[in-house]
Amino acid sequence: MKHKFLLLLLTVTAMLLAFAQGQHEDIPYQAVTNICHTCVCLSTQDSNHRIHQTLNCDMKNFEHILPRWPTEFGTQSTGTEIVATYSGNRIRLLQQLPATNATLTLSCRHCGLQQLQAPLFMDVPNVEALYLSWNEIAEDALTPELFRGPFKTTKYEPIGLKDLDLSHNRIALLYRKLFEHTPQLIKLNLAYNLLSELDDATASALASVTTLQRLDLSHNGLASLPSELFSKLSSLRILDLSGNEFTVVPPSIQQLGKSLVQLNLAGNQFNDLNALSFQKLEALRRLNISDLPALSTIHRGALALPALEQLECSRNPKLELLELNDLLVSRGLSQLDISHNALSTLTLNVSSSNSSAVAWPRLRSVSIAGNPWYCSCDLLQALELVDVQRAEQSGGAAEARCDTPYLLAGTPLSNLTSQKICSMVIPKKYRAVDEEPPRFLRRRYIVLTAIIASVVVVLGLLIGFVVVCVRRRLKGNDYGVQPIRYTSVRGSNLSAFSQLQPASVASKFNNAASAGTTGAANA
Ligand SMILES: *[C@@H]1O[C@H](CO)[C@@H](O)[C@H](O)[C@H]1NC(C)=O
Ligand SMILES: *[C@@H]1O[C@H](CO)[C@@H](O)[C@H](O)[C@H]1NC(C)=O
Ligand SMILES: *[C@@H]1O[C@H](CO)[C@@H](O)[C@H](O)[C@H]1NC(C)=O
Ligand SMILES: *[C@@H]1O[C@H](CO)[C@@H](O)[C@H](O)[C@H]1NC(C)=O
Ligand SMILES: *[C@@H]1O[C@H](CO)[C@@H](O)[C@H](O)[C@H]1NC(C)=O
Repeated sequence: MKHKFLLLLLTVTAMLLAFAQGQHEDIPYQAVTNICHTCVCLSTQDSNHRIHQTLNCDMKNFEHILPRWPTEFGTQSTGTEIVATYSGNRIRLLQQLPATNATLTLSCRHCGLQQLQAPLFMDVPNVEALYLSWNEIAEDALTPELFRGPFKTTKYEPIGLKDLDLSHNRIALLYRKLFEHTPQLIKLNLAYNLLSELDDATASALASVTTLQRLDLSHNGLASLPSELFSKLSSLRILDLSGNEFTVVPPSIQQLGKSLVQLNLAGNQFNDLNALSFQKLEALRRLNISDLPALSTIHRGALALPALEQLECSRNPKLELLELNDLLVSRGLSQLDISHNALSTLTLNVSSSNSSAVAWPRLRSVSIAGNPWYCSCDLLQALELVDVQRAEQSGGAAEARCDTPYLLAGTPLSNLTSQKICSMVIPKKYRAVDEEPPRFLRRRYIVLTAIIASVVVVLGLLIGFVVVCVRRRLKGNDYGVQPIRYTSVRGSNLSAFSQLQPASVASKFNNAASAGTTGAANA
C-alpha cells in the first residue's frame, strides 16, 4: 500500500516536472542530462563586452530540440547573442524554442523538417536569423502564427527576425499574412523551391515586407512576376532571379530602379536583351547575365547602365552581338567578363579626339577568352581602348586567341597590336579556305564514306553467309564434333556438359575423356 502511494507520488512529480520544463508537454523534447557534454557549448566575449554563446548540436541523432538553454549560458540578458545549430539531425517537427531574451540565430539545415510548431518564437522575441534550408517544408507549415511574438495587452508583439533562409524546400505558395509579425525582415531566401507561379496571396506576402533588402527567388521555375510585386519594396538592393524560366526580363524590376544594386539573371531563357530590358535601373552596380543558353543578341541601349561596375556576361553559347559602346556610360566599370560567348568582334567608337583616353579608368579585370574572335583592325583597336593589356586578364590559363582569319588562327590576342593588324593585308585566299567546312564534312567526302561503308557491310554479309553454309555442310557429315573433343577434355564440369548432349555425342565424349586421362597419366 505504502509502495503504491510512493510510486504514484513519484509519477505525479515526474509529470509535473516535465510539464514545467517543456512548453508542449504532449510532444517530448530531446532528453539530455548534461547538454554541454552532448553538444558543444562555447562562450566568448568580444571587445565590446558582448557575450556570444554557441550551442552546436549538429549531427547528434536528435529527434527534437532541447527543452532549455544550457545552464552554462547563465542568464541571457538582451545584450547577449546565442547561435544555436541543430543541423544534420532528424527533427521532423521544430518545436517552440525555450525562452531567452538574447539575440538568437538558429539553424536546422538538413533536418528533414516537415512541420513547424506555431508559435515558434513566443518566448524568443529577439530572434534574429532562422536558417531552415534543405528541409521538406511545404507551404502549409508556414502559417502567420508561426512568427507570432509574446502577447502584450491587446496584441501580439512583433519579433525581431531579420534573416530567413527557407531555400531548398517544397514551398509552392505563401500565406498572404505570413510576414505580419516580422516587420524587420531584411533578407529572405526562397531559392530552390516550387514557387513557379506567384499567385495573389504569395505576391501580397512578398510585397508586404517593405524592409526587405535581399530577395532570392532563384531556381523556382518562374516565368513571370506579378506587375506590382516590387512597388513597395523601396529598400530592395539585391535580387536573385537566376535559374528560372524567364524569356523576357520582368518589367516589374523597373519599380526597383532607385534601390537595386545587384541583379542576377543568369540561367534564364532570354533570346535577346534590348533597350527596355534594364531601363530605369540607374543604381545597378552588378549585373549577372551568364549561362543564358538562348541569348543571341544584346541590342544597343540594353547595357546603358550609368552605375554599372561589374558585368558578368559569360558562357552564353549563342551570343554573337554585344554593344560595347553602351558601356561607355558606365564610367565606374571595374570588372568585365565577356568570356566563353560566341562573340567574334567588338566595336568601340570613342570620339576620335579622345581616342587615346582610356575608356574605363577603374577597370581592373577583363575576361574575353573562349570567344571565336575575328582578329580585325576594329577589334584590336577596341581592345586597346578597353586597355585589356593593362587590366589583368583573369583566368590566366584561358588566353583569348584569334579564331579567324586563317592567317592568324590560334594567335593569342595579347601578341597582336592594332598597328600590326591595321597595316596588314589579309589575303582573300586564306579567308576562302577558312569559310569552307572541314574536309570530313564536305559533301563528296560524306558520299564516298557512305559508299565504302555499304561495300564493306555487303562484303561482310556475303562472307558470313558462305561461312555458315560451309559449317552446315560439315555438321551434316558429323564432322563438327571434332574440335569440341580437344577443347573440352580437361573441362571440370564434363559430366554436366555431357548431360546436355544427345546420347551419341555424350558416349563419344566419355570415350574421349578416358583416352584423355590415360594420355595425361602417360605424360
Ligand atoms: C526577458 O525580459 C523581460 C523584461 O524585459 C522579463 O520580464 C523576462 O522575464 C525576460 N525573460 C527571460 C527568459 O529572461
Ligand atoms: C553569375 O551567375 C552564375 C550562374 O548562376 C554563377 O556561376 C556566377 O557565380 C554568378 N556570378 C556572380 C558574380 O554572382
Ligand atoms: C559611333 O560613331 C558614329 C560615327 O562614326 C556615330 O554616328 C555614332 O553615334 C557613334 N556611336 C556612339 C555610341 O558613340
Ligand atoms: C575627352 O576626355 C576628357 C578626359 O580625358 C574629357 O574631359 C572630355 O570631355 C572628353 N572629350 C570628349 C569630346 O569626349
Ligand atoms: C607570342 O609572343 C611571345 C613573345 O612575345 C612569343 O614567345 C610567342 O611565341 C608568341 N606566340 C605566338 C603564338 O605567336
